[in-house]
Amino acid sequence: MPTPLPPDWSDRLALDRAHIWHPFTQMQIHEADPPVPLVGGEGCDLLLANGERVLDGISSWWTCLHGHGHPRLVSALERQAARLDHGMFAGFTHEPALELVARLRPKLPPGLTRAFFSDDGSTAVEVALKMAFQAQLQRGEKGRDRFGALRSGYHGDTLGAVGVGELENFMTGLFRPLLLACERLEVPEDPRCEVQPDLTGWSERLEGSRQELRAFFSLHGGRLAAFIAEPLVQCAGGMRMWPPELLQELRVQCDTHGVYLILDEVATGFGRTGTFLASDQTGVAPDLLCLSKGLTGGMLPLSMTWATEAIYGHFWGEPASGRAFLHGHSYTANATACAVACASLALFDDEPVLANAALLHLAMKSAFTALAAHPAVRQARVLGTIGACRLVDPATGQGHDPGARFGWRLHRRALDQGLLVRPIGDCLYLMPPLSTPPARIAEAAETLLSLLDESRVDSTWPAVH
Ligand SMILES: Cc1ncc(COP(=O)(O)O)c(C=O)c1O
Repeated sequence: MPTPLPPDWSDRLALDRAHIWHPFTQMQIHEADPPVPLVGGEGCDLLLANGERVLDGISSWWTCLHGHGHPRLVSALERQAARLDHGMFAGFTHEPALELVARLRPKLPPGLTRAFFSDDGSTAVEVALKMAFQAQLQRGEKGRDRFGALRSGYHGDTLGAVGVGELENFMTGLFRPLLLACERLEVPEDPRCEVQPDLTGWSERLEGSRQELRAFFSLHGGRLAAFIAEPLVQCAGGMRMWPPELLQELRVQCDTHGVYLILDEVATGFGRTGTFLASDQTGVAPDLLCLSKGLTGGMLPLSMTWATEAIYGHFWGEPASGRAFLHGHSYTANATACAVACASLALFDDEPVLANAALLHLAMKSAFTALAAHPAVRQARVLGTIGACRLVDPATGQGHDPGARFGWRLHRRALDQGLLVRPIGDCLYLMPPLSTPPARIAEAAETLLSLLDESRVDSTWPAVH
């Protein structure tokens, strides 16, 4: 049983129930199963109002990089907020934004020279899509009225981003009448990431996918303004790890057909896959790069869309030319968020952040190898610090009935055991802060194994809400 909440939380939860609409939530569930009150964050743990401490196994939606409340990030925030909290960025500039581009630029592919700021991953993607479309028009390519994207991709929740994503059940299907034109390409999952890979026939499959990619571009290449992809891991699509060779082929085909390549590293950036950017492992440089989440180490919302000089050049002109990129948000380049992002990047330079990520990778490998032995688990896989597997009903070897909400129930049970996981459909994954001690990952695997055992004994476990 979970530890009860202190009494003063009952009024607060009533206020929540009366007025707050939570993200990605069918609010009816909170009638019986209220949201879990958070009161603190310390390192890789979140502190709950009931006094319990849970490992943030998913980095609070893949944002938290160095642990919660990292003292260098906190002091950067305090210092900057006291000096210049925020100022409009059209016609003005400030030190934190300048320091941020100076720190980040050398860590990116050399061709990316121009940074546009916005607030979150979705807006970084919106900016990239609009830039690509307008750049194509302004270089005289008028027939490029659509985008290319991968099946099972996710790029955010604003309408442009939804249009290039493909999470059929709750998003793309519903909003279809409002969405951008988008052609989608399927890529296979890469069995080489699995902890027990079966590589039979893999090279033929990979070659087949390469041919499909080429055929896709022969058919659609002339109509595409840009192709967008999450490099190496399609995160919200269920931690689908896909082959680097196909990203390399994508780059070749984009070049051949005059299509801009947008890489969305909102989730994969900042060491998550073991390298600073996931695309660093492939040698592929995009024309447009989207960054957010880990940009501020997960402390404040901020995002950037980086563009090549060539794209930037297509917007150059006299004020009356109509070529400017007329886009911006109230909080563009928020000075406090930029200062925190600088502190986060400084940690990459001053502390062994990527070396810790390499240790975390090993811990993830052991954890998912242990999980792979459980009959309720299939397709355990690891890339960098991301580990994932598919949950099945051991009785049938098939996925759980979605109505049984197994993932949600596992999430709730795990919280009572000191672990925050939040499966995506039947995908159970861990993506903790890069600073998480490896021993905590071993503990998390033990917790998950015992919960999976428990779920077999008691099929009503725990209540469905
Ligand atoms: C790859 C990717 N792109 C974009 C987004 C959207 O970011 P945000 O939720 O900050 O708008 C996400 C969010 O999970 C993401 O995983």
